[in-house]
Formats: sequence, structure tokens, C-alpha cells
Amino acid sequence: MGVIIRYLLMVTIAICLTSVECTVTGLATFFDPPYVPSACFGNQNQGNLVAGVSDDLWDSGAACGKSFEVACTGATNQGDPQPCLGEAVTVMIVDHNPGAAAIINLSADAFAKIANLDAGSVYVTVNTI
Ligand SMILES: *[C@@H]1O[C@H](CO)[C@@H](O)[C@H](O)[C@H]1NC(C)=O
Repeated sequence: MGVIIRYLLMVTIAICLTSVECTVTGLATFFDPPYVPSACFGNQNQGNLVAGVSDDLWDSGAACGKSFEVACTGATNQGDPQPCLGEAVTVMIVDHNPGAAAIINLSADAFAKIANLDAGSVYVTVNTI
């Protein structure tokens, strides 16, 4: 990633953490059930629409229990079939994925609401509500 783009991304994320609402763009992956344990809630089940976030959105744990709205914007690989289903999904942040390239790691249930699971990963916007 270019230095300038990286800088702009960091600035965007910094603004996100201090404002009521913001939108971050990046990659989303998914993981299969069971969705416990999690870094935020241990073995307490928080339902099926949950997600983990990488370091930036994790914000030292401040993201725990927050609801983020995630919308699919396109395929990871150009030329792949269009994976987006046109819906947005609201997930609760329950986990931390340190060092992950993806900005958010959705439960398979949440991912399936916005995109075809066959895609594996997709580009998304994450809106901190
Ligand atoms: C997604 O979350 C699962 C469960 O916490 C974890 O095992 C997996 O490594 C995560 N994937 C990524 C890309 O962070």
C-alpha cells in the first residue's frame, strides 16, 4: 500500500475513533461457528451476528460490544463473480484479530447476509454506528 494511502487510512481511522459515526473501507473475511470463545466475552455467547476486528478498529478493546454496520462493496479479485448480495448487516464486535490484513472478520452467518460465502473475502465498508 502506498505511504500516502496508508497515512490517509490511519487519519480516517483516527477520526472514526473520536467521532460518533464513521465509515472505514477494507477487506472482510469470515470464520465458522462456534463463535465462542471471544476476546471480549469469553465463553458467553453473543448470538450469530458477531465479528472480530483487526488492531485499528479494535481500539485497545474499546470496540468490544459495539455494533458496526457492514456492507459489501465488491470482489477481492477482479474478474471474480460479483459476490455482494446488496444487504447490509449489523454485527456486534466480540473479538480481536491481531495483525489481520482484513479490517473485520465476520461470523459466517453475518458474512452470508451480505455476500456469497464462496467468495471467501470481500471488500466492505464498516460503519461504526
Ligand atoms: C477469524 O476469527 C477466527 C475466530 O476467532 C480466527 O480463528 C481466525 O484466525 C480469524 N481470521 C482472520 C483472518 O483474522
